Amino acid sequence: MASQGEKGELHKKIDQLEKENRRLRVLLDVANSLQAELELDKLLFKIMEEVAEILDADRCTVFLYDKERNELWSLVAMGLQKGEEIRFPADKGIAGHVAQTGEILNIPDAYQDPRFNPEIDKKTGYRTRSILTMPLYNKMHEIIGVFQILNKRNGPFTKDDENLLAAISQIAATAIENAQLYDEQVKSLDSFIETLSATLDTRDYITAGHSRRVTEYTLALADAMGVDEEFKRQLRYAGLLHDIGKLKIPESVLFKADKLTPEEFEIIKLHPQVTREILSKIHFQRKLKDVPEIAATHHERLDGTGYPEGLKGEEIPFGGRMICLVDVFDALTSERQYRDRAPLEKVWDIVEKETGTTFDPRCVEAFKTIPAGRIIEIMEHQRQEDFNQAEIERLYQVPIIDIIEIKRKAPESRTPQESEILETFDKYYWRDY
Ligand SMILES: [Fe+2]
Ligand SMILES: [Fe+2]
Repeated sequence: MASQGEKGELHKKIDQLEKENRRLRVLLDVANSLQAELELDKLLFKIMEEVAEILDADRCTVFLYDKERNELWSLVAMGLQKGEEIRFPADKGIAGHVAQTGEILNIPDAYQDPRFNPEIDKKTGYRTRSILTMPLYNKMHEIIGVFQILNKRNGPFTKDDENLLAAISQIAATAIENAQLYDEQVKSLDSFIETLSATLDTRDYITAGHSRRVTEYTLALADAMGVDEEFKRQLRYAGLLHDIGKLKIPESVLFKADKLTPEEFEIIKLHPQVTREILSKIHFQRKLKDVPEIAATHHERLDGTGYPEGLKGEEIPFGGRMICLVDVFDALTSERQYRDRAPLEKVWDIVEKETGTTFDPRCVEAFKTIPAGRIIEIMEHQRQEDFNQAEIERLYQVPIIDIIEIKRKAPESRTPQESEILETFDKYYWRDY
């Protein structure tokens, strides 16, 4: 028989094991959830949210150390998944102290501590009480940032909280370093593709800026359709590179001022296939694997009369169908050496005539809803400094189809408001500013 004292010991041990068990479960959950997130912004928000919840605190902030600028920075939530950066010198305030010394600070009452900077409270109307601040180390034991948890509910932070946070911070630091690495990879692929695209746009002086505008129109269309971020990223790369195959077309054909002979037109028609060949040599990660296919199908038509493969309907990737529409829209609405842009209502007559044969009706429907202001911003990108922002904002209130409908009306049957918005639109469309 176990004595009373032994029983007490046993209960204590069981309690302790249960506590340890809970702690491990929490850590496992955090590890799983953090490893799944590769994008730095989203990861930081996830960490801040989960840690505040686990420690039963009001707020958690992760400050990251920017070695080059000797600053600490963090993201402030601005609506869902949108962040605004805040930065300050790496030796300022409590977070700065921890970043410099590596000390763990557990402060029950912030206002009693001389290192606390009450300015931010004053500005935001927030009232800081307890603070737990801890350095974040990478595997090489360098400080990469600081965890700061505010206002524990029901009393100050305990030693248990400190231990738990120390364990979480190891997991978080690894996840953050992975995300930073990923971020750098994304940025370098991004700048590589941007440069490639800009090179192409520079060479093709007749259609100057075409790839860039096609990309922006495609993204506007994507927003109108509410597609997800991953698809948008594929669309962006495909848009930037859709005509990269033109690099292989001789200048004598590409820049010919006269009408092309049938043979020359056959040469031009090779470019989407060359785009596919070039892009399939770039190693795209799994999430981006459709980029070459989307880019290479921008001259396919819904009814199967396009090129290079004569794909039909659903055989054409949806992204290819989107770029097909905006590619034609840009060709008709950009100036060439010997002509100005076509009147918008004429452009739209052509689009409507080709809907269902060349263009996917879903793309056309969505395009109609793009704000007129966004279209102008893309079309006249090079002259953005000359925009009157109030006018552009006003044009953001109207979908492009409304402008087209007003243009189609006889001038005498337009309302004064209609005439006014049309005048604003035309001012930019005809570069009368
Ligand atoms: Fe093309
Ligand atoms: Fe194009």
